[in-house]
Amino acid sequence: MKLTLSVIKADIGGFVGHSSVHKDVLAKVKEVAEDGKDKGIIRDVSVLVCGDDIALVMTHTKGVDSSEVHELAWNAFKEGTEVAKKLKMYGAGQDLLAEAFSGNVKGMGPGIAEMEFVERKSEPVIVFFADKTSPSAWNLPLYEMFADPMNTAGLVIDPSMHEGFIFDVMDAYTGMGIQLKTPEELYDLLVFIGATSRYVVRAVYRKSDGEIAAAASTQKLSFMAGRYVGKDDPVLIVRAQSGFPAVGEILEPFARPWLVEGWMRGSHTGPLMPVAFKNAKPTRFDGPPRVIAAGYQIADGYLIGPSDLFDDPAFDHAREECNKMANILRRQGIFEPHRLPPEEMEYTTLPKVLEKLKDRFKLVETKKPKFSSEGEIAE
Ligand code: 13P
Ligand code: 13P
Ligand code: MG
Ligand code: MG
Ligand code: MG
Repeated sequence: MKLTLSVIKADIGGFVGHSSVHKDVLAKVKEVAEDGKDKGIIRDVSVLVCGDDIALVMTHTKGVDSSEVHELAWNAFKEGTEVAKKLKMYGAGQDLLAEAFSGNVKGMGPGIAEMEFVERKSEPVIVFFADKTSPSAWNLPLYEMFADPMNTAGLVIDPSMHEGFIFDVMDAYTGMGIQLKTPEELYDLLVFIGATSRYVVRAVYRKSDGEIAAAASTQKLSFMAGRYVGKDDPVLIVRAQSGFPAVGEILEPFARPWLVEGWMRGSHTGPLMPVAFKNAKPTRFDGPPRVIAAGYQIADGYLIGPSDLFDDPAFDHAREECNKMANILRRQGIFEPHRLPPEEMEYTTLPKVLEKLKDRFKLVETKKPKFSSEGEIAE
């Protein structure tokens, strides 16, 4: 029997500001999702929170892109938004861009990561969920998990992984995709996925049999192709063990923090901090960006879990390093490279400021400004 694992997420209002989710909003989303389980639309559901975003982790047998499952998630977020509006949560309904559901949540605002597979004898999966960053944040750890033997010993040791993996990469500006094989096309792959402002890994497959190994939420970006809307707090599903990297190999990249785009106003570079569920509440300068790892064993389509995988003192050092990196970056204030370059900030208010001042740029040498009687710069 083929099982589908669908993770659909949205920010439907923040408590307080953009830092977390109010319990009443969460309770409503859970209630609607559980109701969908009682009605048989889905087999099981688990609800996760990271910062001001809510993710529905759902199992079912309806395949990827199921309109019934997508509609259930849409309705859960819609009803949650009503509660968020009543409590005047910040940005209530923020990620619900469409007025009414029309068959598929793709392009309607929520992020989606989905995969279909035959449940193995034992099926461990990890759902990563991040706030204050974008799907390209997964590029570096996916490379390490599936293509770097210095991270993943299994690439060398385990015969079922030894042939390598295929990365499905999307150009966020055009929506076009390319599939690259590792290890033989590794350097070509890195040309693209190292350019995180443009390219995102949307899935990874095992080369020997084409089995799906990982899927990320990039659909919103592809739908908007042509107009870059890169920042969307992302989710990632990774299957573990027996022909896939071990749980510890999948988590290992997060022990060495790196810099991602997002943080304050989606306009800054910051370290991605791996945290326990209870600490997924970004408040310092609306960050730094957070990531949680929810582990599940799937049994007959039921989600056994989640296990809070970053709730481990072995990640304390990474968290300390993130705080040090955050201090170094915050010293730069509004100056690049802490603040992203202007082309990365197209959806902020910066273009309006630039538009207002564009006529003030003149091809003249610098000179002492003259003031009008009102104190304005006269020429
Ligand atoms: P155990 O001996 O604890 O089962 O560990 C096996 C393993 O492969 C860990 O990566
Ligand atoms: P979210 O995408 O998490 O809502 O963050 C927006 C923001 O502006 C944070 O400062
Ligand atoms: Mg928000
Ligand atoms: Mg968010
Ligand atoms: Mg967001």
